Amino acid sequence: MRQAGRVLPEYRKVRERAGDFISFVKDPELAAEVTVQPVDLLGVDAAIIFSDILVIPEAMGLPYKMIEAKGPWFEHTVRSQADADRLKIAEEGDLAYVMDAIRLAKRELDGRVPLIGFAGAPWTIFAYMTEGSGSKTFSRAKRMLYTEPALSHALLEKITRSTIAYLHAQVKAGADLVQLFDSWAGVLSPEMYSTFALPYIARICDALSKQVPVTVFAKDAYFARAALGQTSCCVIGLDWTMDISESRELIGWNKALQGNADPCLLYSDLKTIKKETEKMLRAFGPLHHIANLGHGLYPDIEKDKVRCFVDTVKEFRF
Ligand code: CP3
Repeated sequence: MRQAGRVLPEYRKVRERAGDFISFVKDPELAAEVTVQPVDLLGVDAAIIFSDILVIPEAMGLPYKMIEAKGPWFEHTVRSQADADRLKIAEEGDLAYVMDAIRLAKRELDGRVPLIGFAGAPWTIFAYMTEGSGSKTFSRAKRMLYTEPALSHALLEKITRSTIAYLHAQVKAGADLVQLFDSWAGVLSPEMYSTFALPYIARICDALSKQVPVTVFAKDAYFARAALGQTSCCVIGLDWTMDISESRELIGWNKALQGNADPCLLYSDLKTIKKETEKMLRAFGPLHHIANLGHGLYPDIEKDKVRCFVDTVKEFRF
């Protein structure tokens, strides 16, 4: 999950060397170094390439800044058809630094664990490109869906084509699995999600799933679980608000489920972390489950607490 590294002093050291976040992301050697850190220091059994979902808007022609303690910020946003027309469809060459980082990380991992590639799902990328920053409601982004549906679909189409090219390139560079993050799925109604999000996710799954397993994580989209179960993805990520047995019923046994501990569980004492993690593992059962949190780690979570979660998972036997 995002920001596994941020709980590590070793990550913060590299981050300081890199300067700002975007230069860090664009430095393949440093990106590969922090990709491998959680494997060595936390014992997780997969690595996720260090990058960000916002490299896609940038490659399409909409650069961003990462403001310390605040998050992403775009100077220009997409407001009109002319703005959308100016954007290009990202190509592999626009994101060569990510592919270089993947190749370096694969070499460093040397087959110890698989490497996960990723991208934002089209709706979440659209949300940042139209809103211009994070938001509680994404009301500006949603306003465009309601008032300019044709423009919205045109922009989602460009994002989708960019994302497919980008993920294909990641697989070619060595990603063993790819994950789509639909972090803002939960601000849409079920109907809006069916219109503006699911069809594009389904297309990305169809384009990639013959090559590598695809994971879809749609945060807060409890209403979309059954429909996601009908796509060609291999794994569905659950957040901690989703009931495990209900999710299994809705999704069926054709998919693996990933998740879903509340990251805040890791503020508890070690005994509670162990007990609650074991409870989660029992609820998922022994098959078709990838143990994980239900979203990213927070930077003030202690490294030993994360290790406790990882060790509990690895030591558990049914
Ligand atoms: O675990 C990893 O480090 C993997 C790499 C990764 C990052 N971002 C690095 C990052 C991944 C998979 C992401 C995905 C991402 N980025 C998502 C989808 C997943 C999710 O969490 O919902 C989203 C919405 C973003 C956009 C983004 N990037 C935001 C909103 C922020 C700021 C949030 C914050 O808490 O500061 C980022 C910054 C970011 N991306 C950091 C990292 C390690 C923190 C930068 C730092 O301070 O070092």
